[in-house]
Amino acid sequence: MKTKRFTADQVEEAAEILKNGGLLGIPTETVYGLGANGLDAAAVGHIFEAKGRPQDNPLILHIPSALWLERYCDHIPAAAYALARRFWPGPLTMILEHKDIVPDAVTAGLATVGMRCPSHPVCRAIIQAADLPVAAPSGNTSGRPSPTNMADMLEDMDGKIDGIVDGGPCSVGVESTIIDLTVTPPRLLRPGGVTLEELREVLGEVAVDEAVTRLMAAGEHPRAPGMKYRHYAPKAPVTVVRGAPEQSARYIREHLEEGDGVICFAEFLPLFEGYPTESMGPASDQAEQARRVFDALRYFDGTDVQRIWAQGPDPTGIGLAVSNRLNKAAGFHIVEV
Ligand code: TXA
Ligand code: MG
Repeated sequence: MKTKRFTADQVEEAAEILKNGGLLGIPTETVYGLGANGLDAAAVGHIFEAKGRPQDNPLILHIPSALWLERYCDHIPAAAYALARRFWPGPLTMILEHKDIVPDAVTAGLATVGMRCPSHPVCRAIIQAADLPVAAPSGNTSGRPSPTNMADMLEDMDGKIDGIVDGGPCSVGVESTIIDLTVTPPRLLRPGGVTLEELREVLGEVAVDEAVTRLMAAGEHPRAPGMKYRHYAPKAPVTVVRGAPEQSARYIREHLEEGDGVICFAEFLPLFEGYPTESMGPASDQAEQARRVFDALRYFDGTDVQRIWAQGPDPTGIGLAVSNRLNKAAGFHIVEV
């Protein structure tokens, strides 16, 4: 199949692909997504094939506003509307009970569905033009780092999808925050663009699912099925070194061997001269770290690096999402210094 490239002003044409049951790469503010008509089970099935995604891992639906929640969800709590008022459109996915109209192909047979209202203007224009809820996982091959620009998505999906729309680089860079509103207290299933601190301002108590902070053992079932997979992983094994930036940098320098690569904060680049190194931006700039983390992980797949060392970021604010993605890439192989 030839994958058609669309510019941001060809949204109407691109949306036809969704209406006709095809697969479309869509830019969002978080990461690029692999979209299909969320009411068309056959189209949704093709998403799983293109990604090589396990069938038990449900998809989320992208809608243009909170007004669409009632079309697809039942027993919507007031908290959902409170969150929508504060964070939508934006990088937040809410888990809610779904109505029968949502196909099992989307929910993997669960009683709940993830709902997200993205803020990227091109994404919003695509959804409006298609006039459909768009089912879309991140646009990577299953297990690889999520794509944060069109070129990264084409690396995985060229020839496997009908089209892709170029919306430029993603402004957030890590996937949406997932909050489960079907349990009390609400539970953070995946940290992302909306921070835990911000969620607590609106919801009060928020529990943090164990899958966010530790490796799930074989046979364990985290509430977000996708959190159980080794994920975001480059081909070479990753070790995260957690601690004050000066100390983690020094630890990595002392343990560095021929064939190793490093993901470090910008100020420590000179320390690793001569080794393949990717910067995550300054230690103090968490937003930049979020935008850089997936690209940094992806970079090493084009090299012959045997091991990757990564400085662990400060896990507050959006740093919780960045450190979660790095820890997962490392299979939670973490050194504390
Ligand atoms: O930012 C994002 O959320 C991106 C962009 C494209 O919107 N999408 C994305 O989708 O990250 P995906 O499929 O890569 O990740 C969705 C996660 C998976 O871990 C999945 O298991 C979980 O959401 N999930 C989906 N439906 C769920 C449900 N009903 N209950 C619990 N977890 C669910
Ligand atoms: Mg994903």
